[in-house]
Amino acid sequence: MTKKTALHIISSARGSESFSKGLSSAIVDKLIGNQEIDVVVERDLTKETPPFLHSNLVGAFYKDPRFVEEEERQLLKYADSVVSDVSKADILILGTPMYNLGMSALLKAWIDQLVRYGITYSYNEKGAREGHLNGKKVYLAIASGGRLQDWSGNYEFIASHVKAVFDAYIGLTDVEIFRVEGTAMPGFQPDYQKILENL
Ligand SMILES: Cc1cc2nc3c(=O)[nH]c(=O)nc-3n(C[C@H](O)[C@H](O)[C@H](O)COP(=O)(O)O)c2cc1C
Repeated sequence: MTKKTALHIISSARGSESFSKGLSSAIVDKLIGNQEIDVVVERDLTKETPPFLHSNLVGAFYKDPRFVEEEERQLLKYADSVVSDVSKADILILGTPMYNLGMSALLKAWIDQLVRYGITYSYNEKGAREGHLNGKKVYLAIASGGRLQDWSGNYEFIASHVKAVFDAYIGLTDVEIFRVEGTAMPGFQPDYQKILENL
């Protein structure tokens, strides 16, 4: 079987206590055990914090690469490294806590560094948007203190947001979601093997 490279993104502020990191690491271990990946590149966004967008950076994002100046090249370094990481990977494994019903701000900032007009997507001659980094499998591991089923309305935003952005602006359509839920409930113990039994 052809071996593959995985990019593992960690975005919880809780280090070794993190359940999203626990679940995403269990996905990594299982894929290694299944002999689906043999190289893992790990990026802990709490240690390599993505910059927030600001006007000079946005300006550099949209500039014709031939005219990018040295100062802008420096600003683009993090974004370029994210594009490089994702381009080299066959499989993405993203972990995120649920914070206020959304993904970690670190993961959102990382996605804002990744999505680039002309690099991860563009428009064809018919005006249709096309993503360019196609064909990679994405696993998204979400940890939440509560459980989605306990909300009366549809309060699912993280998976739908990530799926939509990856589809529209990157070209990645195969996003599989795993959840470790109820982490704030008394006596909670994660069972990652059970959550990943079909992986
Ligand atoms: C600032 C903050 C906001 C949170 N918001 C929610 C929330 O909206 N819904 C929920 O179910 N849990 C929420 N939680 C609980 C976390 O999702 C839970 O602790 C989860 O395990 C965090 O992921 P981690 O273990 O990977 O750090 C929140 C926790 C914090 C610290």
